[in-house]
Formats: sequence, structure tokens, C-alpha cells
Amino acid sequence: MKIHEYQAKQVFRRYGIPVPEGEPAFDVAEVAPIAKRLIEKTGNPVVIVKAQIHAGGRGKGGGVKVAKGGAEEATALASKILGMNLITKQTGPEGQKVGRLYIEQGLDIDKEFYFALLVDRESRRVAVIASAEGGMDIEEVAEAHPEKLLTLHVDPLLGLAPYQIRQLAKFLGISGKETSSAFAKFADGIYKCFVGEDCSMVEVNPLVVTKQGGVVALDGKVTFDDNAEYRHKALFQELRDPAEEDPVELEAKKVGLSYVSLDGNIGCLVNGAGLAMATMDIIKHYGGEPANFLDVGGGASQEQVTQAFRMILSSSLVKGIFVNIFGGIMRCDIIANGIVAASKELGLKVPLVVRLEGTNVELGRKILDDSGLKIQSASSMADGAQKIVAAIRAA
Ligand SMILES: Nc1ncnc2c1ncn2[C@@H]1O[C@H](COP(=O)(O)OP(=O)(O)O)[C@@H](O)[C@H]1O
Ligand SMILES: [Mg+2]
Repeated sequence: MKIHEYQAKQVFRRYGIPVPEGEPAFDVAEVAPIAKRLIEKTGNPVVIVKAQIHAGGRGKGGGVKVAKGGAEEATALASKILGMNLITKQTGPEGQKVGRLYIEQGLDIDKEFYFALLVDRESRRVAVIASAEGGMDIEEVAEAHPEKLLTLHVDPLLGLAPYQIRQLAKFLGISGKETSSAFAKFADGIYKCFVGEDCSMVEVNPLVVTKQGGVVALDGKVTFDDNAEYRHKALFQELRDPAEEDPVELEAKKVGLSYVSLDGNIGCLVNGAGLAMATMDIIKHYGGEPANFLDVGGGASQEQVTQAFRMILSSSLVKGIFVNIFGGIMRCDIIANGIVAASKELGLKVPLVVRLEGTNVELGRKILDDSGLKIQSASSMADGAQKIVAAIRAA
């Protein structure tokens, strides 16, 4: 699960990681009092108005603005940003509507660094990535000058070791007793935060050294590992922003299905993650594009299958459906009944290709045949994939 920058900074604070003073705003009317409070507290007349969306690149997209003219200018900027459709490199061309703002103290930045932690599956360790070329162009730096990034792997038993922190500081060119010890405190805190909160990714870009020599996390992107939700139930509930999540994925989660929306137009109903992957591969092999990854699993009830098929049917992106089931524990008749129930309810307006094999396959086929639905049956995965791709082309 992803969270907003202002929420990430709340979490950072709990680990003693320095962040600028700031408060979230959900309405333009809240902005002036917040700006006044910040200016009074910090003695700095500059405040930053920041769009809160779950995507990066806000600065370049016009979602981060500097107000030098106090509460009045902050309010004027806020009224432009709140509610805007913010398009950044990470949102894709459709953008994301801004529903929340963060009003933050302006800092005097001396240097901007890139600092991130993630789970490196290959080495099975937490990797720390740092660069002295932080700020808004890190993607280009990573591509053109990979030598400007340092990656270290952390021993899970030792944690981020002092020698590694010194290595990072040296690579970043951090010097001076106070700044070095502030950096060490930051690095130690952010690693503890990563592990303590079961994160899969934490990105601080930029991590800044201020003109006063302080080390401050100026931005924060945090992704929690969904598999650890049971350990942080209250936090997940508090920090989740449904406006940022795919509504279909949320609905699927509620009924206990694993569903991921994709960009293509072929809806897939499959049982088992391996078969789901293979199905997507074979669709692509024959020139099609899957619209989703949906694994109804082994033990889904008829109601879950019906709900799964409803979700596929109600997507406007889906131009054809491929059902690919190998019945083991999952019985083909349950799948067939689910398809029929959802289609009767919502109507089947796109081509449907079904490949059924395994437990109760005869009964499953009979249910589909008797339903009167327009279904093409397939004798194999390859046959099914070719049929659905052809059906969409012909439509
Ligand atoms: N509190 C702040 N004080 C001064 N400059 C800031 C502040 N917050 C952001 N900035 C500037 O705006 C840039 C973009 O902000 P950031 O929070 O990193 O958003 P994004 O990464 O989504 O573009 C930063 O690299 C920094 O230069
Ligand atoms: Mg940033």
C-alpha cells in the first residue's frame, strides 16, 4: 500500500527523522491559518504548497509551489492546486485528481541527495541506494550515469552498520562533524523505519542538507508490504486513501480475490497465479493485451466467482473475455455457474471464449451450453488465446 508524503513524514517523525514543519489541508480555507502558524513558528516567511497524490514528479507537473507572499499567496496557490488534475511522469497521461494538500515550511537548501531503501529480491536483502545527484532528475541520472548511484546491501542480522553509513556519507560528499552525525542519525532512523513498519520501498528524494547544516527528509514516498497488513491493521486503516486506489482492485480485495488492473482489453478469469501468468503470456504471444490479472484461486465460492466475472463484465475497457480454468480443487461447475449468473445479471456484450478442463468439466460445459449464452469453447490454451484475439479483431 502506498501512502501520501505528509503521512510518510508522520511515520518518519516517530523514528526521529528530521522533516520540515508542515500540516495537511483538505480545504482551501484551512491553508491560511496553517501558513500563519508555520510562519510564526519558524520565523521563515516562505511556505511550500504541495499536492498530495501517490505519484512522484509533482514538482515538474506543477504540483509543488513556493509562496513567498505569506498566507495570502499560499491560499491563492492552494486554490489552483487543490482539485486540479495533476499529470506527472508517474501518473500516466490520465493524471490524478488532487484531493489533499500539504503546507510546509520552506527550507534553505544547500544540497539535494537521493536516498532510498527497497527489498532487493535477488540478493534477498534490503538495498540502500544513494546519490549526490538528488532532486527532480534522478531517473535521468540513473540511466545516463549509473556510477553516480551507490547501492549497498544490508545484513539483516547486523542492520545498517556504522561502516556502511560512513561509506554512504563519503560517497555523498557529506563532511563536517555536525552534518555527518546528523546524516548518521538519519540513515539509522530510516533503516529502522523501513524494517519496523514492514516497508517494501522508502524513497527520500530529496534528502537535503540545509544552509544551516541540518539533514532533513524533504520528500517521502513509502510503500508498505501488503503481506504485513495483519501486523499494522490500525495504521493501514488510518493511512489508506481510497481515492488513490483502483476501485476495482479495492472491490476485489473486499471479496478476497487477487485482481490487478492492466492496460489491455482482454478480460481474463483464471484459477491459480501460475496459470494466470501463462494465460497473459499466451495472449500476448498471439498479439493480444490482457486487461487484468484475476486469480480466483482454488477455493473460491460460487459467489466469489460471480463477483469476479461481474468485475470483468462491468469494465468498459474489456472488449473480450477469456476464461481459462484448470479445475483441481476448483470445480468447473462452480466456474460455469458463476459465469452464467453474472452474465444474466449484467448481460454479455463482448465475445467470450472458455477453456475448461479438470474436475467436473462435463457438468461445467453442460451448464454453459444450456445457458443460451454466446460462448466459443476452446480445446487448449493456445486455441483459446487465438480465438479471443481473433474475435476482438473481427468486432
Ligand atoms: N519544504 C521545502 N522547502 C524548500 N524546497 C522544497 C520543499 N519541498 C519541496 N521543495 C522543492 O521542490 C522539489 C520537488 O518537491 P518534492 O517533494 O520532491 O516533490 P516531487 O518529487 O513529487 O516532485 C524538491 O526537489 C525541492 O527542490
Ligand atoms: Mg521528490
